[in-house]
Amino acid sequence: MIDDAAVLILAGGQGTRMKSRRAKVLHSAGGKPLVRQAIDTALQVAPKDRVFVVVGYQADQVRAEVEAAGVQAIHQTEQLGTGHAVMCGADKLSRLNGRLIVTVGDCPLIRASTLQQLAETQKSTHAGATVITTIVEDAAGYGRIVRDGGGNVLEIVEHKAARPDQLEIREINSGILCFDAELLWKHIHQLRPDNPAHEYYLTDMVAILLAAGSKVTAMRIPDQNELLGINNRIELAEADRILRARKVRELMIEGVTIEKPETVSIDLDVQIGTDTIVGPFAQITGRSVIGQDCRIGASSLLHNATLGDGAVVFPFSMVSDSKLEERAEVGPFARLRMNAQLGAGAHVGNFVELKNTTMGAGTKSMHLAYLGDSTIGSKVNVGAGTITCNYDGHRKHRTTIQNGVFVGSNSTLIAPVEIGEAAYIAAGSVINQKVPPSNLALARSRQVNKEGWKRKGEAES
Ligand code: UD1
Ligand code: CA
Repeated sequence: MIDDAAVLILAGGQGTRMKSRRAKVLHSAGGKPLVRQAIDTALQVAPKDRVFVVVGYQADQVRAEVEAAGVQAIHQTEQLGTGHAVMCGADKLSRLNGRLIVTVGDCPLIRASTLQQLAETQKSTHAGATVITTIVEDAAGYGRIVRDGGGNVLEIVEHKAARPDQLEIREINSGILCFDAELLWKHIHQLRPDNPAHEYYLTDMVAILLAAGSKVTAMRIPDQNELLGINNRIELAEADRILRARKVRELMIEGVTIEKPETVSIDLDVQIGTDTIVGPFAQITGRSVIGQDCRIGASSLLHNATLGDGAVVFPFSMVSDSKLEERAEVGPFARLRMNAQLGAGAHVGNFVELKNTTMGAGTKSMHLAYLGDSTIGSKVNVGAGTITCNYDGHRKHRTTIQNGVFVGSNSTLIAPVEIGEAAYIAAGSVINQKVPPSNLALARSRQVNKEGWKRKGEAES
């Protein structure tokens, strides 16, 4: 964290090559919108009240992301170029002294440590501006770094404005710069849209600052992956892959076992405790928080899932917006959704679905059940084939099952209904009335055996 640094993230453009109805920076990589990723990186570099985002295209939606992250948006009503976008920040930013890092909303792989290093280089070289550069094979579309014979930076020329000899240059502008804030605000009004695109280019500040007698330095970085800018969905997929690979490495270094890590997909915001084992093809997304010593089986999908220590999700299960207390187990082939909650040591087995249902400690439903809108106590046994009929075609109703109840197999519980503590439901019952505590409820037709019965036409023996 650098106390005298501010970060301005440019995210006002549309991103036409995404061929999307949504602004480019709202597309996600690593489970996070690009703009959110840029903000999270910035927050590791500068204090929260010194991080700003320029919004323009689909401003309201982008602003919502920005404000949800707790930083400030600056509105650029017309997209007149990166220099213009920075000018729009003058009101809020020109009072902040120190260093201003200008970065972009579509460059999600840039590391916080690289931005910190940029700010340090700017300071130690006493530069008016320092720009991150790298060497690429194909520089088409990028601004080129023009240096003199001594290697000093002279200017940045945009691809569209470059002379043929300048187009040969393979050192490119990342679009990420750190300025001496005072000098930037003093000279930014000198930018002119005198280029083929009629845009205000931030990159022209390099020549302007040099002409004003200050120094401009370049920080060339070897890992050009970090600078991957997202322009289309192929690059978006590549950034997503790299971010997730980084996440998985980070988790393994922190003590999580991940089998076949290249097959696993984990969002950047997910937390996983030590000694948890994640099986192949698992997907753990959203704001999932997984405790220690858990097991996440192969091909399971966990979204916004919370797992206490020692919880187990067997293979091919889905757990979304739901919680397992410690040592609870689900699956294989189970589905928990919409705020399902399992108490400590509860077990949910194969082909069981829980929706908006809480289950107390030690309760079991091992096979083939639908438990919706239910409150189930502890030490309950829910037999195979039990169905809560929670929907009457208009409204949803609750089923309440108190502690210690035994629900026999293939029971149908028509909500709203309550089963009292330690009651016993006979298998195959259709229950539509309250069952008092410790009662046996039999709600099925009695078996009739007809002695000596024979099918029509069968010969007497
Ligand atoms: C920019 C640089 C180029 C560099 C390249 C790296 C300039 C003039 N050019 O070009 O030297 O090699 O990035 O990827 O800076 N934006 C706004 N408002 C605007 C225009 C842009 O907020 O009016 C935002 C965009 O949303 C984007 C960022 O600024 O996040 C960069 O704009 P973009 O149009 O992508 O610039 P490039 O042409 O890629
Ligand atoms: Ca770009």
